[in-house]
Amino acid sequence: MSLHRAFTPGSATGRNVRAELLRICGGPVRKFLPLISHQGGRSALTCQFRCGNACAHGVANTSGNEYFGDIAAKALSRRGMLRAGALGAVVVGVGAAGAVPALADPGAEPEVAANGFGWGRGDLRFTPVAPNTADALTVPQGYSSSVVVRWGDPVLPDAPAFDFDNQSAAAQAKQFGYNCDYVTLFPMGHHRALLWVNHEYTDENLMFRGYTNGAAATEEQIRIALAAHGGSVVEIERRGNTGDWKLVTRGRRRYNRRITAQTPMRFSGPAAGSALLKTAADPEGRTPLGMLNNCAGGTTPWGTVLTAEENFNQYFVNGPRTPENARYSIPTGVSGRRFDRVEERFDLAKHPNEVNRFGWIVEIDPFDPQSTPIKRTALGRFAHEAATTSVGRDGRLVVYMGDDSRFEYVYKFVSKERYIPGFDRHNRTLLDEGTLYVARFTGDSPGEIDGSGKLPADGAFDGTGEWIPLVSGSESFVDGMSAEQVLVFTRLAADKVGATKMDRPEDVERNPVTGAVYVALTNNGNRTAAQVDEANPRPSNKHGHVLELVEQRDGRFTWSLPLVCGDPNDATTYFAGFDKTKVSPISCPDNLAFDRDGNLWISTDGNQLGSNDGLFVMPVRGPERGYLRQFLTVPFAAETCGPLVTDDQRSVFVAVQHPGESDGATPDNPTSHWPDGGASQPRPAVAVVWHSRGKKIGA
Ligand code: FEO
Ligand code: CA
Ligand code: CA
Ligand code: CA
Repeated sequence: MSLHRAFTPGSATGRNVRAELLRICGGPVRKFLPLISHQGGRSALTCQFRCGNACAHGVANTSGNEYFGDIAAKALSRRGMLRAGALGAVVVGVGAAGAVPALADPGAEPEVAANGFGWGRGDLRFTPVAPNTADALTVPQGYSSSVVVRWGDPVLPDAPAFDFDNQSAAAQAKQFGYNCDYVTLFPMGHHRALLWVNHEYTDENLMFRGYTNGAAATEEQIRIALAAHGGSVVEIERRGNTGDWKLVTRGRRRYNRRITAQTPMRFSGPAAGSALLKTAADPEGRTPLGMLNNCAGGTTPWGTVLTAEENFNQYFVNGPRTPENARYSIPTGVSGRRFDRVEERFDLAKHPNEVNRFGWIVEIDPFDPQSTPIKRTALGRFAHEAATTSVGRDGRLVVYMGDDSRFEYVYKFVSKERYIPGFDRHNRTLLDEGTLYVARFTGDSPGEIDGSGKLPADGAFDGTGEWIPLVSGSESFVDGMSAEQVLVFTRLAADKVGATKMDRPEDVERNPVTGAVYVALTNNGNRTAAQVDEANPRPSNKHGHVLELVEQRDGRFTWSLPLVCGDPNDATTYFAGFDKTKVSPISCPDNLAFDRDGNLWISTDGNQLGSNDGLFVMPVRGPERGYLRQFLTVPFAAETCGPLVTDDQRSVFVAVQHPGESDGATPDNPTSHWPDGGASQPRPAVAVVWHSRGKKIGA
């Protein structure tokens, strides 16, 4: 049934919009599918402002935790043991602190198009966009694009117009923030929708004329930066009956909202109130202020946003030299944006626990502008890239998450209770009680992974894996760590249980048609030839790869690599066996999305092949599995984020992050003028692409 036809717009409040949508579809309100580091081809500016020059620093994961190349030789005997008992296998390497919880089984859905949509069987027929370095959003022939909302556009009805040379913190707090990332859409009928957008980070070099560094910045500039982080909710409307959408600029816009680095929030879940989260300003450890570096995210079946705090470490100064801070790359000196100059809490010499209050998944209700955002502690603390929800075969909610740093891990949370369609009050408790797992990947071609990129004799980089439980409520499964410690210092817990060190796990998405789960592993220039394994088979992995994971009933999974990225002429690349003369070159996969036909959409961050970043699409089943084609490129020095293909498959939204963020660029010497053209300053923006004659996207 078409959600858009079934829903009657007009009189509904946000809450009954949600109720109505739940009634209609018995499931996600977000009936549109959702649609991003110097070692990529990033500029020095991107490295400095996005992640605090993480790549220039040492690898934080110095755990003795084995690379799985190290354990390849043990694999056969271990598999024999696993076969002897799946649950027994799960506890390998896990402390005996408690009984192992039952694993929910998201299962691989039966291969039927239960949603009534197609199979992704190769009806993608557009002419791919060629690699280029144009300062433009380049779309295929026959397609059109427009800008929906840009940095500085009014969000709150009383926001002033954007004035680049006279920006203020008060104005910014009411305007669309900087560098947009995760994008999701909540439809309110056929013609209206709420658009959620993350504002990951600020690039002060491009925002302010004459900016040099945080120590020399004006306090007002620092306050502007605080206000330009966070996220935005904006009402958008369809233009006529097209796939084009535009910002609603008149009327009440009751849902429009800005969330910033200063918005009051609350903790929930098992670590709320923990001593590790208490500060002078919040002696109860329950009311953190603001969110930072929100990268990608997810949407819950009950119609809220999950937004992921990623490189939060870089905003702090004077971190005490503790093992925990080292594992999270918390700065020990004084550098960066110097938020501490206007808010003392960012000085960890004075407020050491403040940094523990960041690095969480935050849940936000876009339909209630008065609601308090919730940091969900049960989902652990790390450089959260995203949080993809899925309902398991047994009805429990599953959240897949990546920790985007070199040699970090892939995680999964499984709720204790089941998701009940339409029971909002119950569903909103699901993210507070459950079990957090981390992934271990085992290859099935031990001894054959030599770093050359050559496929093993069995024809695939593939194998099996297991979800290792870390913590469930107040019960820790990790020796020597309490439940609160596992949740606040999740990386250290995962080290102890032998999780597999991956090549920067970015987005994780689940295919709505097949049930398979996909993980973007963006790159890892630090992996050595001695550290390759079947799940991360290339040393100095510049171009990254995509992993496909199929859940098994016993709580284990199988996996393979359908895509090993790069120039198709490079012998180390792999496109699921598809004819490489026909595919587009791709580098540094970051955000993933699916259309309703089950085609995988991949956006990139840091192309190392000399082209602008872009958006690609690839069937993952049928004869065209591996047939990767480029759908668009973003303007010069930008990154492609937040891809979202709408349910009606008539619109593709992309967040164009950091246009013109190239070395040497300043407001007096901009290297991009997108989107406004002429001599204008570059402005991060969300754009929409549609077929000019109203055809289905890609067809
Ligand atoms: Fe913000 Fe991992 O990209
Ligand atoms: Ca990302
Ligand atoms: Ca990225
Ligand atoms: Ca293999």
